[in-house]
Amino acid sequence: MPKLARWYIQTALLYLALGTLLGAVILWNKGLPIAGAWRTLAAHIALVTWGWLLLLTLGVAYWILPCWGQERRRVWLAGAAYISLNVALWLVALAPWLRAAWPNAAGGALQAVACLAFALHAWPRVRKSAYGV
Ligand code: HEM
Repeated sequence: MPKLARWYIQTALLYLALGTLLGAVILWNKGLPIAGAWRTLAAHIALVTWGWLLLLTLGVAYWILPCWGQERRRVWLAGAAYISLNVALWLVALAPWLRAAWPNAAGGALQAVACLAFALHAWPRVRKSAYGV
């Protein structure tokens, strides 16, 4: 498995653990209140959707889509998507503490850039493999 795919998938697993922990905190808070628990809802949602589900999907796609022999082309686009998605995730997750509109706006814009970058990387790889399947 290539290094970038490992980064994607290991980060996704970390975010699953962190997102589930925050989900448990919010759930606990419904029975026994914890100060500030609801403020973590944005982080919970970002961690389990963009962080867990999307990073896992993109990591597996980066690994498994057909290559050119051993070569993956335009790897920098998949790397840029990884960095942008991580920066975006933390901007959105921390937005409730930053008390400003720009982190959500910047996070959304970065998420769009990341999705476009990954799509540009992956599009030419959606084809028959070298083995004809
Ligand atoms: C892949 C797994 C998960 C996904 C995609 C997910 C997604 C979401 C989303 C989208 C919301 C917002 C719902 C809304 O605003 O109406 C939410 C809220 C919540 N999640 Fe999760 N979640 C996941 C796992 C978990 C886990 C494991 C827990 C608990 C241990 C949890 C606990 C909660 C709680 C307590 C809320 C707040 C519900 C409310 O508004 O009353 N989530 N989750």
